[in-house]
Amino acid sequence: MIVIASSGGDVGIRQAVQALRDGGSAIDAVEEGIQHVESNPDDHGVGLSGMPNLLGEVELDATIMDGATLQAGAVGSLKGYEHPISIARKVMEELWHVFLVGAGAERFAAEMGFEKTALLTDQARADWQNSLWEYLGISDPAQLQQARELRHIGRLACYTAKILGTVNFIARDKQGNICTGVSTSGLGLKYPGRLSDSCVIGAGNYADNRYGAAACTGMGEIAIRAGSARSTVLYMKMGMSVEEACREAMEDLDALVGDRHRGIHLIAMDKDGNHYGAANALDRTKHIYMTSEMNSFAHFEGHYAPFRTDPKLEPQSDARDGMN
Ligand code: GLY
Repeated sequence: MIVIASSGGDVGIRQAVQALRDGGSAIDAVEEGIQHVESNPDDHGVGLSGMPNLLGEVELDATIMDGATLQAGAVGSLKGYEHPISIARKVMEELWHVFLVGAGAERFAAEMGFEKTALLTDQARADWQNSLWEYLGISDPAQLQQARELRHIGRLACYTAKILGTVNFIARDKQGNICTGVSTSGLGLKYPGRLSDSCVIGAGNYADNRYGAAACTGMGEIAIRAGSARSTVLYMKMGMSVEEACREAMEDLDALVGDRHRGIHLIAMDKDGNHYGAANALDRTKHIYMTSEMNSFAHFEGHYAPFRTDPKLEPQSDARDGMN
């Protein structure tokens, strides 16, 4: 039995492993581990105290996928609920659908008995206001609330601020079942309604007991465009080791043109519990792992694969184009 997690998962990985020791399934372990991250007020990339969008609203995304059945649940742009991972699990278990967003997801959460929570903590509000000033020169957030158009400022915010945080958990239980979960408040200062890879099955999350599982953190637009989690699992299906599959999925990113901020980190596990990680930003090459025999988690140093896209293919215009 083993659990791996991206950075930030340290507050929940022991509890996730304990869930497995207590006879819980891989799904139970993933939900347990991620819930602790979602409740951590010091983590401004996930759940409570997550970094808000341009308008100061915390919008959460999450997915869970069961490698035994290939069933999945996802929620996106969810406001006012601390545990999107648990609501995603309920989508998977209670509905015929896979993916709910916005008001529909909130309605379903209420129906399932989840309590509403004020997600924008004082600290997150202060960070948001400081970021508006630091990156966009905006001292009065009301300026944005009254703005007729947000697109130029939103584009600039994503290029300059790059405030990202996400958590991935992958667990393998006693029966050899694998589950993956991902949760995030998404890119800080995002355009309202922007969805991340974390809520898109195949992009930021994929699990299949027969081959393995993969999940992403980082700039979600990239993992969505490349279908990174699904590709990694497909590469394992084609016979690659988990390490080769991660490296191949990172190489796929070289073909992506037209976005200069493309840092992602991929963690993956094969069907036997071997794991690996790869990233194109040095500070993200580490993930943590813990088996049921270990007393605490350990760090795993992954592979660093910087982008090699031909600069001649990149658009010459600047992110500030269109600003006035
Ligand atoms: N991977 C999280 C995000 O793109 O917001």
